Amino acid sequence: MNKTAIITGITGQDGSYLAELLLEKDYKVVGLYRRSSSYHFERISSIVDHPNLTLLEFDLTDPSVILSILKQYEPDEFYNLAAMSHVGTSFHQPSTTFDINTMGVLHILEGIRTTSSATKYYQASTSEMFGKNYSVDKDNNKYQDENTPLIPQSPYAVSKVASHNLVRIYRDAYNIFATSGILFNHESPRRGENFLTRKVTKYIGQLVNKKTSDSLKLGNLQAYRDWGHAKDYVYAMYLMLQQDVPDDFVICTGQTHSVLNFVIKSFESVDLDYKQYVEIDPSLYRPAEVDYLCGRSLKAQKVLGWIPSTSFDDLVSEMIQSDIKVYANV
Ligand code: NAP
Ligand code: GDD
Repeated sequence: MNKTAIITGITGQDGSYLAELLLEKDYKVVGLYRRSSSYHFERISSIVDHPNLTLLEFDLTDPSVILSILKQYEPDEFYNLAAMSHVGTSFHQPSTTFDINTMGVLHILEGIRTTSSATKYYQASTSEMFGKNYSVDKDNNKYQDENTPLIPQSPYAVSKVASHNLVRIYRDAYNIFATSGILFNHESPRRGENFLTRKVTKYIGQLVNKKTSDSLKLGNLQAYRDWGHAKDYVYAMYLMLQQDVPDDFVICTGQTHSVLNFVIKSFESVDLDYKQYVEIDPSLYRPAEVDYLCGRSLKAQKVLGWIPSTSFDDLVSEMIQSDIKVYANV
């Protein structure tokens, strides 16, 4: 019999890739999206009419709709990918961030506990939770893994630490299969346009097609991120829910690059010098920054058999080529 999976945030980057993966694996997918005054199914355009996909309107801040959907479907798997996911925005909208990212998770966990206790739950935890902190190995290399203590640096990160702990508590106290994937930054041509990577590749797509004469305004170029491909990372989510026991897993590439390096690489790939186009806008600096992220995913490699398949250079190239194509036709 086909498994049933619920995905919240199906209109987002990860939700769209995960839905495609599960439909390929013959799942019945129930995709939950929030109401919008305009059409926002672009990322799921290739599957929107798939016979095994049901799309239902909901909002993560409303426990009643979550409960009734859980009662109706009693899914085998529940992937909670919906969130207020922008770190910078969380400084301006801390309360909304908590309502969605923390209270929303509590609503789902309570729903599973009371009405659908056999459901396996996936929580979208994040490397942002490490904040200022890192571990150091014997060769003085800095990294983060499942044992690195969390020192969050933004309202977004604190909201995710709270839900990460709720998942652990529901696992231990109620014996619910609840797993957290601690995913490092992952990108793709479907990345939201106000995240660093896509902001850069979108600008280059416009520039190459002579659709902009503005400069590219950016904030802090000195932070380091461990960037992978979203398609690889949703496969790790799927693997986590195929295990017999729930756990926490770091998912990353193990390589880190500065924001400046991403910018230089992107411009170089179209033979341009970033210095002629990029302007620093101090208003884009965050009140508190996460300076250094570089993960170690030895546990995921060992237990899940997961390794990333996309290199940093290939990621940059895929995103640039995609945006050059997009803006040739706009
Ligand atoms: P994304 O593209 O921003 O997608 C977020 C999704 O959440 C969208 O579908 C959005 O709907 C939905 N959403 C937001 N508020 C909602 C609400 N109140 N009720 C219902 N739905 C709501 O994020 P992503 O990059 O796919 O990330 C997926 C998850 O992984 C998020 O939880 C994020 O925090 C986490 N994460 C991401 C990364 C990363 O690097 N991408 C790394 C670690 C963890 P709309 O389409 O209507 O906006
Ligand atoms: N968004 C953005 N816009 N970031 C900029 C800009 C800019 O104009 N200029 C510099 N940056 C810097 C940020 O200060 C940060 O250090 C880095 O670029 C990456 O920013 P984002 O792409 O917004 O990602 P993030 O690392 O803050 O958060 C993403 O990754 C987390 C996992 O570590 C998001 O996807 C989070 O949802 C996710 O949890």
